[in-house]
Amino acid sequence: MVKPALPIETERLRLRPYAAADVPDLYALESHPEVHRYLYSEPRDLTQVAERASERTDWVAFHAEGDQLALVVELKETREVIGSVLLHWVSQTHRQGEIGYTLHPDHHGKGYASEAAAPLLKVGFEDLGLHRVVGRLDGRNTASAKVLEKLGMRREAHLVQNEFVKGEWTDEVVYALLASEWSGASS
Ligand SMILES: CC(C)(COP(=O)(O)OP(=O)(O)OC[C@H]1O[C@@H](n2cnc3c(N)ncnc32)[C@H](O)[C@@H]1OP(=O)(O)O)[C@@H](O)C(=O)NCCC(=O)NCCS
Repeated sequence: MVKPALPIETERLRLRPYAAADVPDLYALESHPEVHRYLYSEPRDLTQVAERASERTDWVAFHAEGDQLALVVELKETREVIGSVLLHWVSQTHRQGEIGYTLHPDHHGKGYASEAAAPLLKVGFEDLGLHRVVGRLDGRNTASAKVLEKLGMRREAHLVQNEFVKGEWTDEVVYALLASEWSGASS
């Protein structure tokens, strides 16, 4: 079992396990239509948010491929939960992982997503021993592409209309980073 040391502190943020008390902040995040614009998901109601938070409370360790580390992103200064991050252990054989992140629109454009996602690369490469970590996004999600570029990830693929999402054909863009390319000292 791989259990990263938690919470993870960055300059402005604290990444920690989900807790029942986070539901109001998570509802503000997950019910917001803008958050889901380029995701497969739809805005969630309070019951869905509470169920999801409860399910994720113990997503704090990796036992087998398929497991995910799911953490809320808390603003240190105010203790408000402004987002969430995820590291998915996609394959043991291929030592692959995938990162994901969401931030409340009130807090976009301040560099929080890249600040929150950087430690996930460290967990993936150092704790989990991954060889390659990817980030996948809708081709129109420019903000997310910038986050991955700030993390030093490489734009590897642009798949044209490979998915039918929310009633339309959409492009998928894939970013990736190898352990050998990762400059961990800065994370
Ligand atoms: C993607 C997301 C996490 C970015 O969060 P963030 O905290 O604003 O990200 P950062 O501040 O670290 O960087 C975002 C960059 O994109 C830019 N940006 C923000 N919105 C943009 C837009 N609509 N079009 C173009 N660029 C945009 C910002 O100016 C910033 O660029 P800069 O570093 O050159 O100034 C946030 O937009 C979000 O939560 N979106 C909804 C969920 C989502 O799509 N998650 C990603 C799934 S792949």
